[in-house]
Order: sequence, then C-alpha cells, then structure tokens
Amino acid sequence: MPTAKLIDGKAFSAKVREGVAKDVTALKTNHGITPGLAVVIVGEDPASQVYVRNKVKQTAETGMNSFHFEMPADTSEDVLLAKVNELNADPAVNGILVQLPLPKHINEAAVIDAINPEKDVDGFHVINSGLLATGGKGMVPCTPLGCLLMLQDTLGDMSGKKAIVVGRSNIVGKPMAQLLLDANCTVTIAHSRTKDLAGEVAEADIVVAAVGRAEMVKGDWIKEGATVIDVGINRIDAPERGEGKSRLVGDVEFGAAAERAGAITPVPGGVGPMTIACLLKNTVTATCRQNN
Ligand code: GUN
Repeated sequence: MPTAKLIDGKAFSAKVREGVAKDVTALKTNHGITPGLAVVIVGEDPASQVYVRNKVKQTAETGMNSFHFEMPADTSEDVLLAKVNELNADPAVNGILVQLPLPKHINEAAVIDAINPEKDVDGFHVINSGLLATGGKGMVPCTPLGCLLMLQDTLGDMSGKKAIVVGRSNIVGKPMAQLLLDANCTVTIAHSRTKDLAGEVAEADIVVAAVGRAEMVKGDWIKEGATVIDVGINRIDAPERGEGKSRLVGDVEFGAAAERAGAITPVPGGVGPMTIACLLKNTVTATCRQNN
C-alpha cells in the first residue's frame, strides 16, 4: 500500500500557469507589453513535435504571443544561426527556445550560445549556467526550476537536508544540484560511476532522479519519509514486458518507493507538466528584465 503523498504536478503546474496568465495581463494593461516566445524545431522527431505543440498551445493560452518556426531536417547550421540572430534582434520576441536534440550535422552548443542570454528561456546558455553557478541572476533551466518549486511547496525550508541528484546532465542534474545547494541542502551528485548508489540514495532526505533509465532507482533504497522527485520519462514497449500496451515509467521504481517515501511525484503527471509551466514563467521573467 503506498503511504507517500502524491505530488500532483498537473494541478501545481495549472496554478503556476494561472500566475503567469495574471502577470501577462498586468504587463499588457499596465505597460502595453505582450510577452512573446519563439520556438524553433528542426526536423521531424515525433516526440519533439509533441513537446513543441504543447509549448506553443500553452504559450497562447496564457495570453502571450507564440511564434513557431518549423525548419526541415537538412537545414544547415548557418541557416539556423541566421534564424536565431533574427529572433535575437526582434523586439517582439522575449524568449527563444530551440528544441533539442538537433540533427547530428548541427553543433548544438554553437546554436545555444548564439541565443541572446537574456532571451535564453531554457537557461542553457553558458552565461546562464555560469550565473547559476556563481549566484547571479540568470535564466534557470525549466525542469530543475519545476522540481525546486515542487520541493519548496512540499517541504518549505530545506536547509540542512541531505539531497541526492542522480544524473549529471547539463540540462537537469547539474543545475538541479546548484539549486539545492542555493536552498542550503547538503548535495550529492551521483552518476553511472558512483560506487554504492543504493547506499548514497538511502542517506538522502531528498532524491531527484534524472538518469533517463527506467526504474533504475529501486524503491527499497529510499529512506523512510524522504521526498522523491522523478524526472524520468521512459517508454516501456509492449513486447519487452509481454503486455498489451506500451506505458510510461520514471527513473524510480514507483510502487515500492511510494511505500517508503513521505512524498513522491508520479510519472506521468509529476515533473513533466511543470517543465512547460516554468518555460512560460521564464518568458515572463525575461520580458520584465528586458523592459527594466
Ligand atoms: N528537449 C527536451 N527537453 C527540452 C527542453 O527543455 N528544452 C529544449 N530546448 N529542448 C528540449
């Protein structure tokens, strides 16, 4: 029987989006400014297309201007860089997101670093990662920001808590660890070469799993009463399990973890919806900073 409280990312993200919509109305009414978010997708990766469609739809729903650019898979790096520069120069565009992954022939880092850091609502630009690492005021990556908001809502003050981040990606693991450090947690970053992952996880009051491997974090590793945030979204194909339908699972073995955790995010319906809500929040933040 699960005893953990479910952290409802769907409901929480709806509240965040409501806040964004109010801020957008205030910007329009008081300052005559409508925030604008440009989303660029290169190629036809079906998962990316779904993400982008959701981003575009939710941007419009909060009252912002949404600019959507679809470019063919054989777009050259120069053409993509020219598009980024055009958006950098466009005053109606306050936020720019280039959907990743990009086709292999394009240098992702070069494209990300061509975005004006003030318009980098993904928070991936090297200037923004540097500002996060040094306590400056940059743009914070959306997924870790969403995790932090859920943790603050669940736990309040996190000072002195032991936190473990499983995964060390630039997009989630590293910025997540920085945010937990800023919240005065004692932070461990675990990864594929960590010697005793089970033992490290068992020490933690807060577990953020972002490795991208289905149910890798086992339920019986979780400390009694810990708060578990599962960033993973892994599709398990039907034949692999002998089941009729494919299904989505996180990086945490949910059923067993929910018997030990104090609170846990489900997959789907946990971190996922918070990422887009934070993208919209970042677009409002960027708009305010650009107009100050
Ligand atoms: N691809 C998967 N997640 C993301 C994201 O948060 N931002 C961008 N730009 N691409 C992604």
